[in-house]
Amino acid sequence: MSSGKGRAIAPATGKLGILLPGMGAVATTFIAGVEAIRSGLVKPVGSVTQTGTIRLGKRTEKRSPLVKDFVPLAELKDIEFAGWDCFPDNAYVAAKKAGVLHYEHLAALKPFLETVSPWPAVFDQNYVKKLQATHVKTGKTKMDLAEQVMADIESFRKAKNLARLVMVWCGSTEVYKKETAVHQTIEAFEQGLRDNDPDIAPSMIYAYAAIKMGIPYANGAPNLSADFPALIDLARKTGTPIGGKDFKTGQTLMKTILAPGLKARLLGVDGWFSTNILGNRDGEVLEDPDSFKTKEVSKLSVLDEILQPHLYPDLYGKIHHVVRINYYPPRGDNKEGWDNIDIFGWMGYPMQIKIDFLCRDSILAAPLVLDLALFFDLAKRAQMSGIQEWLSFYFKSPQVAPGLYPEHDLFIQLMKLKNTLRHLRGEDLITHLGLEYYD
Ligand SMILES: NC(=O)c1ccc[n+]([C@@H]2O[C@H](COP(=O)([O-])OP(=O)(O)OC[C@H]3O[C@@H](n4cnc5c(N)ncnc54)[C@H](O)[C@@H]3O)[C@@H](O)[C@H]2O)c1
Repeated sequence: MSSGKGRAIAPATGKLGILLPGMGAVATTFIAGVEAIRSGLVKPVGSVTQTGTIRLGKRTEKRSPLVKDFVPLAELKDIEFAGWDCFPDNAYVAAKKAGVLHYEHLAALKPFLETVSPWPAVFDQNYVKKLQATHVKTGKTKMDLAEQVMADIESFRKAKNLARLVMVWCGSTEVYKKETAVHQTIEAFEQGLRDNDPDIAPSMIYAYAAIKMGIPYANGAPNLSADFPALIDLARKTGTPIGGKDFKTGQTLMKTILAPGLKARLLGVDGWFSTNILGNRDGEVLEDPDSFKTKEVSKLSVLDEILQPHLYPDLYGKIHHVVRINYYPPRGDNKEGWDNIDIFGWMGYPMQIKIDFLCRDSILAAPLVLDLALFFDLAKRAQMSGIQEWLSFYFKSPQVAPGLYPEHDLFIQLMKLKNTLRHLRGEDLITHLGLEYYD
């Protein structure tokens, strides 16, 4: 039974181009994985769009189609890749250097990966201090650079005969910046591009280029990028879906799984100490305190929003929440994240929880890039413009409408995502009330 007609959604016919500013560990693991799935080498583990199902109607109806059969998504065979990087390595060389994938996968995918080479980047050393870029665009103004990005996109669209495009930022984390006057209106921002305003970061230039062209933009890093009034307004005006920030993987994923459980049982939390060692390029960039600050803000916000200390001052009013990231080259992309959680229960008795997550950062992030690209493309075809809060599931620091606090609880986020899909298709939303089974 459905509650209505749902929304008109344009079909996913033709090819979808996925644009990746930043072709490092995450982006190349994503490209390699999609090609490995297309070749039948592996299964799409970790991807809601490829592997997930969605329950429809009452439990007695036993309707649980695959998500990809329920909403019209681009098919993997129709995807083309392109991107930018401040190093000229093609996706094979970059993947090899990133050290995520085993030799057997690299060897099998080499011919395909070698076909994807980055365009020169829009880069500014002031925003990523640890990288010595060698493959960068030059231009008199930041507006010239934005136009060069748009020209790259246009050439890709023509060369591959693409029907649609999406952009997912997979570039390094930029230094911490707050919005200033130049970020407040479209006019101020465009003037700032022409005047080379120092507060306009490279990631904002890519975001502007995409949004101006009506291309959906998702931000996988914590830097502002498209999270300020000028680009949010531009997205509404150009009918473009946008969202971010910062892929939710690893330690924060664990936090947003565990913290809602502790809160559900009303167990108190005195402290949550999180520390990581990782040795990939991301870790190296985050060694710079200004880039780390951007990441820290993104990681720290999660607990407050989930535990709501203002509603539960006795349980969560005095938490010591500490997050550390240590660059430790021997580990490469295989991050180790430790959490020590000091909790307390009935009559205030203390207890401890320890987590030691030996994860693979890019393996956790790659399926998120795929889902984001496909869902943002869906949003565009469903005429959903501006911030896509229903995709908070994928982000550490979800963008939301002004005045709203973000929803961090992974399970509420998943419900929001699936209910949005049901809403798009005119199916009843699932409330989990269930009283009707007992009438
Ligand atoms: N792997 C994860 O689990 C995870 C989770 C959340 C967020 N992230 C974020 O995703 C991003 C990518 O992570 P990664 O592990 O692939 O890092 P990486 O260092 O391997 O790749 C980033 C790439 O971006 C390039 N780059 C930097 N500035 C650029 C610019 N202005 N234009 C184009 N390219 C640029 C770098 O040369 C590098 O190749 C980082 O910001 C990271 O913080 C990763």
